[in-house]
Order: sequence, then C-alpha cells, then structure tokens
Amino acid sequence: MKFLGISGSLRKASLNTALLKEACQLVPEGVTMTVRTLEDLPLLNPDDLATGFPAAVDQLAEAIGQADALVLASPEFNYSVTAVMKNAMDWLSIHPQAPLRDKPVALMSASPSAFGGGRAQYHLREILIYPGARVLGVPEIMVASAHDAFNEQGVLSNQTTKDLMTQQMQALKAMIK
Ligand SMILES: Cc1cc2nc3c(=O)[nH]c(=O)nc-3n(C[C@H](O)[C@H](O)[C@H](O)COP(=O)(O)O)c2cc1C
Repeated sequence: MKFLGISGSLRKASLNTALLKEACQLVPEGVTMTVRTLEDLPLLNPDDLATGFPAAVDQLAEAIGQADALVLASPEFNYSVTAVMKNAMDWLSIHPQAPLRDKPVALMSASPSAFGGGRAQYHLREILIYPGARVLGVPEIMVASAHDAFNEQGVLSNQTTKDLMTQQMQALKAMIK
C-alpha cells in the first residue's frame, strides 16, 4: 500500500514537510510513504481551462490516484491553510479524474504557536467535503511549539507525538477499502 504526503509549505526548512517525513518512518508494515510539495502548481484561473489542465495538475491527480491514502500537512496562515494548499485542493476538486473522491486522508500540522495549526486543519476538513475525501477523525496531530520539536537532524524528538502519529498512520491504513 502507498501513502502520499503532500505539504502545503514551500519553505525549504518547513516544519510541516519535516512532519510528513517523520510520518514516513512511522507507517505500518506493508505501507510505503513518499512526500511531495506543491511548488510546480500554477494558480487556478478557470479561464485557462480552455486549453486543458496544466501538466503539473495532471501529474498531481495521477499521483493521488495511484496512492491508497493521503497525508496532508499544511502550515496555518491567518487561522487557515496556506494559499498553496487551498489552490491545490481547488484544482483537484475540478479535475476530471476526481482524485480526492473517496480517498482516505489524514491531516497533520506543525506550528511555532501554542495551537499547532489546528485551526487550519479544521478549515481543511471543510475544504475536503465537496471533493468527497474521507477524512480521518482521530487521532489528530497538531504539533505546537514546533520550532523546538525537531532536533538538528530534523527528527521529531517527542516520543508521545511519535506514538500518536504511529496510531494515526495505523488508523489511516484501516480506512483503505
Ligand atoms: C502569513 C503568515 C501567517 C501566519 N499565520 C499563522 C497563524 O494563524 N497561526 C499559526 O500558528 N502560525 C501562523 N504563522 C506562522 C507559521 O505557522 C510558521 O511560519 C510555520 O513555521 C510555517 O510552516 P512551515 O514551517 O511548514 O513552512 C503564519 C506565518 C505567515 C508567514
């Protein structure tokens, strides 16, 4: 089985991308997980659809189609997901392959704040309603004070968080039909 992690951050030193990379180490037996970012996606302008979908959007839809489940991690920007993550979800919501329909999805976030990006996650849950994704409820992963949560090698140091992530990855696998 394959999990695909998608980061809503464009930063090289992104805490959210680091969180997804940590999740790759915690997937259950029989699962492999890869991580991708979204810098290749153009901004959605429906006027441009006359010439078809951009290759980068087709590739993302294809990658999601080939994955058994998704793990989405977005930074919280002004209490919501990043424009980068929203733009990707908007593209996917109108793609003819409907790649998010019935797709099992787990959410996670990391933030230097005390809230761990939870407000963005709840917006992302709403955004995923129309595209028809099946979003895991709990466990929820919201890593607060995330600037202190990773060591110099970018590895998450808190074992309790890792255990919860392991449980979340198991719950995601269990959602796959
Ligand atoms: C425009 C902007 C708005 C932000 N708003 C929030 C916010 O509402 N809540 C929060 O916890 N952090 C907020 N932050 C801080 C980000 O959570 C922080 O920069 C985080 O490291 C970004 O994620 P990344 O490391 O994965 O790139 C904001 C940052 C920017 C640049």
